Amino acid sequence: MNVKPDNFFHIEMDLFQDRRIFPFQLYIFNPSTMEYTLFLHGNQPLIKDKWQLLNFVIERGGGIAVRKDQQKTFLSSLKLKEDDVPSLSHTKHISPEIEALLKEQKLAKEKLKNTVQGKSKFLLNEELPKSILQDNFSNLIIAARNEIAAFPCSFSPTVSLARYLALNLLEEDNFYNRVVALSYHLAIGMGIVDHASLGSLICASFLYHLGNTQVDFGVLKKPSAELFDDDRKKFRQHPGLTQHLLKKINLDIDVRCYQIMLDHHERTDGSGFPNFKRHGQIDPLALVLGAVSHIFEYHYGLVTGKKTPLQAIFINLQNKTSIQGLETEFGGHIHQSLVHLLKMELLKSNAPDQAKVA
Ligand SMILES: [Fe+2]
Repeated sequence: MNVKPDNFFHIEMDLFQDRRIFPFQLYIFNPSTMEYTLFLHGNQPLIKDKWQLLNFVIERGGGIAVRKDQQKTFLSSLKLKEDDVPSLSHTKHISPEIEALLKEQKLAKEKLKNTVQGKSKFLLNEELPKSILQDNFSNLIIAARNEIAAFPCSFSPTVSLARYLALNLLEEDNFYNRVVALSYHLAIGMGIVDHASLGSLICASFLYHLGNTQVDFGVLKKPSAELFDDDRKKFRQHPGLTQHLLKKINLDIDVRCYQIMLDHHERTDGSGFPNFKRHGQIDPLALVLGAVSHIFEYHYGLVTGKKTPLQAIFINLQNKTSIQGLETEFGGHIHQSLVHLLKMELLKSNAPDQAKVA
């Protein structure tokens, strides 16, 4: 224990960016005792559990600190200047735009705290089956928006963009907002909770079909399960076209986000495209986006040309039933999560005849 605040400076987690090993020590500050406790030794990895614990500490009003005698090491290893760290900044100047963003984020955090504690779990277990049965995803979309609004403003360009898109677009119940919200909630249900991963997934789920703007509309109008030869070849170019367009405009999003978009049609049995990847070659977040996108495409009739009730799709996914155009090879983790989280018994009991027959 150390109780001398003059020996420390406080930092925000977003300063770590993508780094998880540091040559300096991290301390936790306990505001109720005003004490600093060593949390992580230098050159030890900040593993997922510890990262989550730090988030928990901050949510409870605690702080993260570094010893002042390690200030130089801290700044040089993270390629920061003193002015990048509010507690070290000499100018203490924050632009009005950043100040407004910080205020907005703080309000979003408070709003979130004032609603239901542990809301993500609650939503997945309680709200998702209701959304499916009622074919209404408004609650999930707004819940995702509220949670993403509380993401840090300056963690990374990808997280900032995710936050911006969510705040400005996640309102009405439509195809793309469903894809974003369900991908987000499903990832959290699978234990993927860090801002970096979720930021990549959110941006990818907003942007992944940008390449469709370059595909012949006549091809896009046809059910995807009925595409052959040239049409199928053209359709299968859309993930690469999305990547091409975004790189052309130099959109500042991370590599993982690009990969998720490119791989959203890859399937674990190698039946996907564009690179026929298998199992461990595919990022789990690409499988999440791929599964969610496929579910809603199937529902809206984009796969077979015929609209299908959502509960019928989920039941067939659970059973891995072979029906026309329905893809089920999204990996065991996603399959188990869907089965576990969506209360299949509830869906079954309310399933229309069509689902029972399929
Ligand atoms: Fe697609």
